[in-house]
Amino acid sequence: MGVYRSVVRPLLFALPPEAAHRLAHGLLGLPLPWERIGRVPDDPRLRVTLCGIELRNPIGLAAGFDKSCRRLDALGRLGFGYVVGGTVTRHPRAGNPKPRVARSPRQASMVNAMGLPNPGADAVARTLATGARTAPRFVSIADQDVPDALATHALLEPHADAIELNASCPNVSWGRDRDNEAHLDRLLRELGARRTKPLLVKLPPFRTRVEREVVTALARIARDAGADGLTCSNTRPVRDPRLATGAGGLSGRALFADTPRIVEEIRRATERALPVNACGGIATAADALACIEAGATTVQVFTAMVYRGPRVVAEIASGLADTLRLRRTEMGALVGPA
Ligand SMILES: Cc1cc2nc3c(=O)[nH]c(=O)nc-3n(C[C@H](O)[C@H](O)[C@H](O)COP(=O)(O)O)c2cc1C
Repeated sequence: MGVYRSVVRPLLFALPPEAAHRLAHGLLGLPLPWERIGRVPDDPRLRVTLCGIELRNPIGLAAGFDKSCRRLDALGRLGFGYVVGGTVTRHPRAGNPKPRVARSPRQASMVNAMGLPNPGADAVARTLATGARTAPRFVSIADQDVPDALATHALLEPHADAIELNASCPNVSWGRDRDNEAHLDRLLRELGARRTKPLLVKLPPFRTRVEREVVTALARIARDAGADGLTCSNTRPVRDPRLATGAGGLSGRALFADTPRIVEEIRRATERALPVNACGGIATAADALACIEAGATTVQVFTAMVYRGPRVVAEIASGLADTLRLRRTEMGALVGPA
């Protein structure tokens, strides 16, 4: 067992989840040799192109880990192929009442009802303008109304390599209740006319037939309205009495069983026109490989960083590189055409 699992994690888990996350965020602000801590192999076999952006490996940091985008430089130096900051909204948000995150260690999972707390697009644009770019950086954005979303996009796109539109947060009312299809269509068409960088859409997960129809319809709308890629998926809504709101989004291992199937179904529903980033419970090279074989171009991780620590990127990257070596191939040949 590594130092993270034997020493650091027990200390972090002695704190409430949000306090532990603040501490981890603080540590990432220290001038430590993050490249040496991450020790991610720089193997040309792992290189892959996502929406025209060249990545050194297909492992991305999922949105929500660095909501203020203040630690994207250190996270890039840890060895991620790309990092997604945010989600950022036009105006600062305090988020939902606390407690709003709970761990379920036996399932290596979490439930959160953060409600998109963030410092707002003006502050994040200032942070990004001065931060070093150590890996391609994407910024996740979400707003309730179209004019706000357009303003957030205009403020942040100049500082990002791509924008990921969060169309799937279960913890704000507009992420789940509104007429999602018409709203997404209008938003993407308006953004499409203005954007100069790739635009990706993050979709919710699905299990039932009805949910599948709703989400595949959103995926087709994204494709037809000109999105460049999809991230599948966000957290799954669940009830949880430990949270002040009584409900939140499930993340981590408990999600993984569905992730490759969702990737495969979304790729099929969109006739493989768009690259897909798999997200949901990915923690090992075998998980990543299953998603890539289901049609994903990259994978994104969040909860595995909490349970397995920063070396998780190196573990996934090394395992993928070993597989590629054995198969005498490279990532570019393994991922589906977009
Ligand atoms: C505490 C927490 C906060 C999150 N915040 C965001 C967010 O702001 N925007 C977003 O698109 N996803 C957010 N997510 C969802 C993750 O990006 C990811 O889609 C989800 O956790 C599934 O991946 P995982 O199982 O690897 O964690 C959050 C997840 C957690 C656990």
